[in-house]
Amino acid sequence: MNKKVVGEVFSQVSKLYDPFLKGITLGNIDRWQRDLIELLDNEGNRLDVGTGTGEVLKKSIVKGLKVGIDLSIGMLKRAKTKCTDCHFILADAENMPFKDASFRSITLSLVYRHIDDKKAFLKEAYRVLEKGGHICILDINRFLGTRILTFIMRYPIKPLGLLMFGREKWDFFLHSLESSLSLSEVKQQLEGENFKVIHIKTYLFGLVYLLKASKL
Ligand SMILES: C[S@@+](CC[C@H](N)C(=O)[O-])C[C@H]1O[C@@H](n2cnc3c(N)ncnc32)[C@H](O)[C@@H]1O
Repeated sequence: MNKKVVGEVFSQVSKLYDPFLKGITLGNIDRWQRDLIELLDNEGNRLDVGTGTGEVLKKSIVKGLKVGIDLSIGMLKRAKTKCTDCHFILADAENMPFKDASFRSITLSLVYRHIDDKKAFLKEAYRVLEKGGHICILDINRFLGTRILTFIMRYPIKPLGLLMFGREKWDFFLHSLESSLSLSEVKQQLEGENFKVIHIKTYLFGLVYLLKASKL
C-alpha cells in the first residue's frame, strides 16, 4: 500500500479513530496497551512507532523522552492534544530520523501489519535501539479467528463501517486485516534480524498477540 495513501486514510479517520477502536476491540484495547507497557521498564527513551493518536505514549510513564512517529499528520495532530509531554514526528518506520542507539524501548500497537517492508523496519529498529533494548509488538494474529473477523467486517458490520468511514477506507481496513501475519511468521522475522523473542501472550482466543523481543 502506498505510504501517502496510508497517511491520508488515517488522517481522514483520525477524529473517529479512538471510539471506533474501543468498539471494535470490545473495549479491550486499553488493557492490551497497558499490558504492552507493563512488559517494559520505565528507564530510558521510548519510541512508539505508528503512534496514531498517541494512546500508548499517553499511558506510558518513562524517565526518558517519549517519542512517537507516524505517517499521518491528522493522527499526529490529535496525539499532540492528548499527550503534551510527548514529541511527535512525521516519519516512516522504514527510515527513521534518529541516531543509532537513541531508545531503550520501542512499542508498536496495531501497526506491524501495516508496515510494508518489515525487514527494513526491523533493521531500523535494531539500529535505533540501545544494546539490550526491547521491542514490544501488539497486533492481530493471522489464523482462523482473523478469517472470522474479516467475514464480520465484510458482511454484518459492513453497513456501519461504510456509514462511519466510507467504502475506500473500509476496504483499506479490510485489506490491512487480511495482511496480518501469524505469530510464528512475526517471530521468525524478528529472529532473522537479531532479536530474541522472550515473551508471548495472546488474547481473544488467539486473535490478538502481544510479543516482547530483546536486541541481541
Ligand atoms: C491502526 S493505527 C494504530 C495507532 C496506534 N498505535 C493505536 O494503537 O491506536 C496504525 C498507524 O500506523 C501508522 N503507520 C502505518 N505505516 C507506517 C509507517 N511505515 N511508518 C509510520 N507509521 C505508519 C498509520 O498512519 C496509523 O496511524
